[in-house]
Amino acid sequence: MKPFAFRTSWLPALLLLVSSLAATAQKRKVDVKQELARAGEQLTRLLKTHPDQTKFPYSTRPDGTLKDTKSEWWTSGFFGGTLWYMYEYTKQPQWQQAADQWTMAMQREQHNTGTHDLGFMLYCPFGNGYRLTQNPAYQPVLLTGARSLATRFRPEVGLIKSWNDFAGYNYPVIIDNMMNLELLCWAARTSGDSTLRRLSITHADNTLRHHFRPDGSTYHVVCYDEKGQVLAKKTAQGAADNSAWARGQAWAIYGYTMLYRETRLDRYRQQARKTADFFLSHPNLPADKIPYWDFNAPGIPAEERDASAAAIVASALLELQQYSPAADAKRYRQAAEQMLVSLSSPAYRAAAGDNHNFLIKHCVAHKPAKTEVDAPLVYADYYYLEALLRYDRLK
Ligand code: GLY
Repeated sequence: MKPFAFRTSWLPALLLLVSSLAATAQKRKVDVKQELARAGEQLTRLLKTHPDQTKFPYSTRPDGTLKDTKSEWWTSGFFGGTLWYMYEYTKQPQWQQAADQWTMAMQREQHNTGTHDLGFMLYCPFGNGYRLTQNPAYQPVLLTGARSLATRFRPEVGLIKSWNDFAGYNYPVIIDNMMNLELLCWAARTSGDSTLRRLSITHADNTLRHHFRPDGSTYHVVCYDEKGQVLAKKTAQGAADNSAWARGQAWAIYGYTMLYRETRLDRYRQQARKTADFFLSHPNLPADKIPYWDFNAPGIPAEERDASAAAIVASALLELQQYSPAADAKRYRQAAEQMLVSLSSPAYRAAAGDNHNFLIKHCVAHKPAKTEVDAPLVYADYYYLEALLRYDRLK
């Protein structure tokens, strides 16, 4: 074999390659490595100060003290999921160990048939854990959890019931519920039980039919009778029944993007794009692209922002851009990048040791109920890290 010999004629092409690589690197506005290092320090402190794995870090109280929850609360799986993203990026065994412990602490919820939130609660910790490690202990928990979730689907209604009652209605379905379909689609693929996939498509189609307004925004809650007739369209966490609650829009964008990935049914991609375009072109979306907690909150601009909605949308857009024509893909990438720039700035990312060691500040869980208003939320941290990892993988 001839020895490798550098030829001077290659020099211009080589210089072009190096300068274009440098230009691409410079164009990146978020330093993922640095943000993950900061997240690692903050989460290490949170793990040290919160060793009790029967209570799950959630937020802070108005007096600034830490608020944690029991495993049956819908947010309890996000902490384990967040730790899995740290492991995915760093490959350091201490993150795998911590993630595994906080994941296994959620095991008992696989039998919980009293909630529709099993997708959030189980898929974020066990689903990520299984994807990254193929630990055989995680698979049966996910499969049992999927079957528990499916018990809330009534064929006559064609939807998974969200809450057991709401404002006098006993079959309310919330847009957030789209997120739980990821667990069912995974279980259908893994077990070969196609009824779980069909159930997801039926739920998504009925949600498509009844939850959305002509402008692409979504209602929060649609209440059905026992035969699937719509009785009322309401809000629980938004400013008004007819308003666009920011995180509801985020769940819709993420949920339909995810379901397009799972099914390749174009109507889901179209809905995700329509709701994303509503979100991004709304006159009340501030320049930093962190929305107010509701696009129609009555006191804008003197209303709280919801950074959790921005984190969810940033992550969703970084997937949706893959399924969009070039010009829109670029628009979605730029919007997601702006959201990540804002979330990574001192305006929204907590300084070391602040914010009870949660990563992101200025979220709103439930303004009408006055709970966790302008507070950290564990799911903002989860989707922020997920979005950073997706941003890092952009070519
Ligand atoms: N799933 C409830 C929420 O987004 O607050």
